[in-house]
Amino acid sequence: MDKFHIVGPSRLAGRVKASGAKNAALPALAATLLTEAATELHNVPRVRDIRTLCKLLEHLGMGCEERADGALVLQRFQPIEASADDAPYDLVKTMRASVLVLGPLLARYGHARVSLPGGCAIGVRPIDQHLKGLEALGAEVRLSHGYVETTASRLVGARFRFDMPTVTGTENVLMAAVLAQGTSVLENCAREPEVADLADLLNAMGARISGAGGETIEVEGVRELGGARHRVIPDRIEGGTYLIGAALTGGDVTLEDAHAADLAPLLDKLAEVGAQIDVGPAGIRVCAVGDLRAADLTTAPHPGFPTDLQAQFMALLTQTHGVATIRETIFENRFQHAPELMRMGADVHVDGGSARIQGPTPLAGANVMATDLRASACLVLAGVVAQGETVVERIYHLDRGYEGMELKLQKLGAQVARRAASEA
Ligand code: EPU
Repeated sequence: MDKFHIVGPSRLAGRVKASGAKNAALPALAATLLTEAATELHNVPRVRDIRTLCKLLEHLGMGCEERADGALVLQRFQPIEASADDAPYDLVKTMRASVLVLGPLLARYGHARVSLPGGCAIGVRPIDQHLKGLEALGAEVRLSHGYVETTASRLVGARFRFDMPTVTGTENVLMAAVLAQGTSVLENCAREPEVADLADLLNAMGARISGAGGETIEVEGVRELGGARHRVIPDRIEGGTYLIGAALTGGDVTLEDAHAADLAPLLDKLAEVGAQIDVGPAGIRVCAVGDLRAADLTTAPHPGFPTDLQAQFMALLTQTHGVATIRETIFENRFQHAPELMRMGADVHVDGGSARIQGPTPLAGANVMATDLRASACLVLAGVVAQGETVVERIYHLDRGYEGMELKLQKLGAQVARRAASEA
């Protein structure tokens, strides 16, 4: 298992570009199941979660070919009947987003059998909303032996209201509704930019979707979809991680090719702690001079502060002046970075869904253990600002969603090296 060895403190400065958004590329890959034609996806990040989903799609008879120009081309090469278990436990257990094949398989082939994902490190994460949405479109849903089995001869458009905004739930039901007969109106949808990006791809394939990115999405079902060429949006969470790093280290980082509107909740918070923000044609520049002040934050569905940047922002709050409170409202177990930060010298007190951070406290390098993707990113940032050597273990979590993080950080001036366990 690879580790990161980081020697700090370093100041992050320079220009960096985010890769394509993992959480937009995953549903885009799943959407290619909806058509027999070839779909060409550009700007797909080279991260482990994408490789996992490609493996699942190949199991389902799809060809996933990376072209010399970096585009990923997906097309069916084997009839679906060739695979007995649509999405087996072994593939789904490593990545919850595998459940995104449920809606497309059901809509395209009239049945789907997908292993239930179960809980994960950050919380229970049920999929009841995915299933209720598919039932509203006329699907029969059965749970049996750890699998969810859905069938429908042809889905029928319907009005459906999600009990809470769910990102992959909205994406799953949306992908099913595009091939349903008649019109669907989906209410209380997730408004994340990744949902709007998926709708752009589906519309390019011939779907008729309006309102994606808002609370209500209207879909006029079509008989079939064709191929398309699509460029995945930049990863706001990855990009945001480097901008937080700039503020944390008193640095000066420009994030190139970013969508500032998608990052507004983070940029507002960075301004609140006293970082200087400039949005211009060259990108988003964050620079921090002098002392920063503490600011409270509460995670919420978009356009609220993203839960996927909460851990990284906590690293920053260990260095701001005053007391800050973070309230995590999306996942029930997403403070696992806190005890590791405390081992580095942070003053953090976790009480249920809230964490109180007293800053600034000098951080000292230590051996720390990554527990999930965003917690790992938090610990890497903490290592960059800490005095001495930090070893972040279990970097495979980070590799699920960050493309070449050590290379990007090195370019910004950090001393970070990846070492295989045997080199430790
Ligand atoms: N929820 C339910 N029932 C459902 C679906 C969701 O109760 O059927 C609850 C969840 O338990 C949670 C809330 O609704 O409390 C929101 O969860 P959501 O469904 O939006 O999360 P997700 O779709 O499983 C995606 C991202 C996550 C990100 C969340 C929240 C992908 C592939 N994953 O997950 O990304 O944290 O939205 O923004 O898009 C990450 O990249 O590190 C990551 C975990």
